[in-house]
Amino acid sequence: MFNIILFGPPGSGKGTQSERLIAKYQLKHLSTGDLLRSEIAAKTPLGLEAKSVMDKGQLVPDEVVIGMISSALDHNPQTKGFLFDGFPRTASQSEALDKLLKLKHSEINVMLSLEVSEEELVKRLLNRGLTSGRSDDTSEEVVSARIAEYHKKTSVVADYYKNFNKVVSIKGEGTVDEIFNALSDEIDKRLS
Ligand code: AP5
Ligand code: MG
Repeated sequence: MFNIILFGPPGSGKGTQSERLIAKYQLKHLSTGDLLRSEIAAKTPLGLEAKSVMDKGQLVPDEVVIGMISSALDHNPQTKGFLFDGFPRTASQSEALDKLLKLKHSEINVMLSLEVSEEELVKRLLNRGLTSGRSDDTSEEVVSARIAEYHKKTSVVADYYKNFNKVVSIKGEGTVDEIFNALSDEIDKRLS
């Protein structure tokens, strides 16, 4: 398996680029944000609990997202690899992911980290909030809270993978095509 973490702050383009990367490399896309939003749409108890946390721009508990990822790994035994988007987001999530992949005799091959200025992140998210229906995009306060959570709890995840020399920074500003090409180049280097 070839496993990628597409990393970056809220609004850095993880979802946009994931859609293209999974089509090109035939990977299974695992976005914890999308999985949580499906639970909300289905009005499950987990979804209802997650919604109140997400609407404040905070992270849902580690056990919840680790459980979702564990079950997704079990349900996709034939995949060529996984593209993780929005996970792992804390140091404990990274450790849990490494353990889960090890059980499958696999590992993270590379973390691609999208670098985008804070000003651009806020602009993109509030702009999407005008049309997306994502309740966490509509207020500047919630958008700022999400970015603050990223600095407080998530940016350390990159340090964790840097210890294993697995992190590549990619400029996340420019056209979607330019960024996609830069990401693809890094993946191709590692696949060949
Ligand atoms: P999640 O769904 O993961 O959201 P996020 O990380 O906050 O980021 P986004 O999905 O908003 O941004 P993105 O990087 O995917 O960018 P996108 O491509 O959409 O998480 C939501 C919430 O769920 C969290 O706050 C938390 O509560 C919870 N959660 C999720 N995972 C969790 C976990 N592991 N642990 C705990 N809690 C968790 O692009 C953004 C916008 O920019 C779009 O409108 C797009 O069209 C535009 N855009 C993209 N690329 C470009 C470009 N190159 N130029 C201009 N605009 C662009
Ligand atoms: Mg996303």
